[in-house]
Amino acid sequence: MKTRIAVLVSGGGTNLQALIDAASRGELPHGELALVVSNNAGAYALKRAEAAGIPAAVCLRGKGEPREAFEARLQRILAGNHIDMVILAGFMAILSAEFVKHWPERIINVHPALIPSFCGEGFYGLRVHRAALDYGVKVTGATVHYVNEIPDGGRIIAQKAVEIAEDDTPETLQRRVMEQAEWILLPRAAEMVAEKIAQNNH
Ligand code: GAR
Repeated sequence: MKTRIAVLVSGGGTNLQALIDAASRGELPHGELALVVSNNAGAYALKRAEAAGIPAAVCLRGKGEPREAFEARLQRILAGNHIDMVILAGFMAILSAEFVKHWPERIINVHPALIPSFCGEGFYGLRVHRAALDYGVKVTGATVHYVNEIPDGGRIIAQKAVEIAEDDTPETLQRRVMEQAEWILLPRAAEMVAEKIAQNNH
């Protein structure tokens, strides 16, 4: 049986697209992209899910709503869809220790830097690339890692380095890190983990 994967998104969903494209090329043989969940109703990623024929759900955290209530709803959506594995692909919310405890080595995340640089709370999206440029590093990259109770702190699955150019802006750097690292690494790591889970489920 294939590992049923839920992809959690918040925005543009280019990493989701990379997963969809890899799956359609037959590069995700042990996984099925079974569900997309967005915590942002306007996320373009939802359109990508629709175009690919993947069921999608919106799970919003209400203003002032306790994280536990939001996560309980998310957990119900995942359980209701018989999800085995979760991929955070540009999901801009930190999951609690309580939540991730239910998914040991079953949640992976893509982070747009070489962990342990430029990671942890507050480092997401363009902020990560701005921080790398401000620091003046010459090389950055992307990391795919398991998600545990420490933000960006779980075991590393794969990393790829990307060179920084003299005239990079956070936007140009973000694009290069996506093209040269994230969109390649994430589908590969997803297949690796999906295969492991599929074997354990037998
Ligand atoms: C990606 O660069 C992803 O690595 C990053 O947000 C972007 C989402 O783009 N994630 C984080 O910063 C999480 N800490 P996408 O919606 O086009 O995939």
